[in-house]
Amino acid sequence: MTDRPDRPLEGRQAVVTGGASGIGLACVRELVALGADVTIADIDPETTKQVATDHGVDAWVVDLADTAALETVELDADILVNNAGIQRVNPLTTFAPEDFRLIHRLMLEAPFLLARAVLPRMYERGWGRIVNVSSVHGLRASAYKSAYVSAKHGLEGLSKVTALEGAAHGVTSNCVNPGYVRTPLVEKQIADQAAAHGVSEDEVVEKIMLTGTAVKRLVEPEQVASLVAWLCSDAAAMVTGASYTMDGGWTAR
Ligand SMILES: NC(=O)c1ccc[n+]([C@@H]2O[C@H](COP(=O)([O-])OP(=O)(O)OC[C@H]3O[C@@H](n4cnc5c(N)ncnc54)[C@H](O)[C@@H]3O)[C@@H](O)[C@H]2O)c1
Repeated sequence: MTDRPDRPLEGRQAVVTGGASGIGLACVRELVALGADVTIADIDPETTKQVATDHGVDAWVVDLADTAALETVELDADILVNNAGIQRVNPLTTFAPEDFRLIHRLMLEAPFLLARAVLPRMYERGWGRIVNVSSVHGLRASAYKSAYVSAKHGLEGLSKVTALEGAAHGVTSNCVNPGYVRTPLVEKQIADQAAAHGVSEDEVVEKIMLTGTAVKRLVEPEQVASLVAWLCSDAAAMVTGASYTMDGGWTAR
């Protein structure tokens, strides 16, 4: 699309769901820096519009859990980053069915419906990149996270099927699988666990979150974004149906 090596994504349209915060916002910054025209799809009107203005990108204020509305959505993009997500933590026996369904709508049905919307024009152009922000929890389970773990495992399957169907059309589909990343979603979990266990937030990070991790640090959102951007590059054209962990060695065990 472009001859400028510093802006390899110039001329590409990218949609980043959940782009107003955390990993999504880091992806927006990275894709903009590489020359892409980015649209942030996120639920909160004020934050989404403010973040879009700050970064010179477009805002699409949308509740991606309203999947009935997404069945007829019209969307044109060369790059789709399925990133929006939430967490609910409860034992199966008391897990609210509506919370389970909400997580599955937002984190599995919406990625399916958005991919379904963008793929026809990607196929026409013979180029497309779908990056699904999965998690270590797309590959491993943790107690009390039934909705999240099952939605992420479903996303892994969706990504692989997309890879098989898209291959003949120049479309790749991959997952990135971070461990705990320093974002508002995790900062809230740290604060909640510190209060629940009566320990400091540093202790929660070291003794609860990073017990299985070889590198005793949280992942930074910019590190995940750089992997997402690489998956969008032409250098990654042969990478499809893959799941790339970035977890400080958690899944090496
Ligand atoms: N933070 C982590 O440790 C971590 C680890 C692995 C995977 N992930 C995944 O990364 C993704 C982003 O997480 P994050 O930590 O950056 O979270 P975050 O809370 O910082 O950002 C999530 C974004 O999604 C948006 N969102 C939530 N519900 C929405 C809805 N119904 N419609 C549209 N947008 C909605 C929020 O407004 C927010 O901007 C999620 O899919 C999460 O599962 C996070």
